[in-house]
Amino acid sequence: MQELKDSFELITFPKIKDTRGNLSVVEQYKHVPFDIKRVYYTYDIPADSSRGGHAHKNLHQVLIAISGSFDVTLDDGKTQTKVFLNKPNIGLHIKPGIWREINNFSAGSVVFVLASDVYNEDDYIRNYDNFKKYRL
Ligand code: TYD
Repeated sequence: MQELKDSFELITFPKIKDTRGNLSVVEQYKHVPFDIKRVYYTYDIPADSSRGGHAHKNLHQVLIAISGSFDVTLDDGKTQTKVFLNKPNIGLHIKPGIWREINNFSAGSVVFVLASDVYNEDDYIRNYDNFKKYRL
């Protein structure tokens, strides 16, 4: 398994500045290194909420703070690191095998997620002890 530092990366998407409003674009393979097979988003998130709380066996995801801000804590079973997302043109690519928790949501924040595959509950590890065993 990869070390934590090699299991995630920040990606800066193009930002086309305009007095009418800025525009950012994400294309598969050009800006994210996988087929984008699914998009989902969480919104109306209470400030004290915690989302995530699982790892994926094979799924790649890119998380974007399309609106507002939040913290993403990444955990490889041994070490943890925290990434603050607050820009709509920055994506956090989380590779497979990493436990993630998302919290510290600002008002009106939206977590926008690009995923490398369709929804498959079998790809989830939802129990932290099982995750630690999986990482051994
Ligand atoms: P979950 O992945 O646990 O959400 P989060 O990681 O944001 O905390 O999913 C919450 C619920 O939504 C769960 O019942 C599964 C369902 N769900 C889908 O049906 N399709 C999807 O693409 C996703 C991400 C979740």
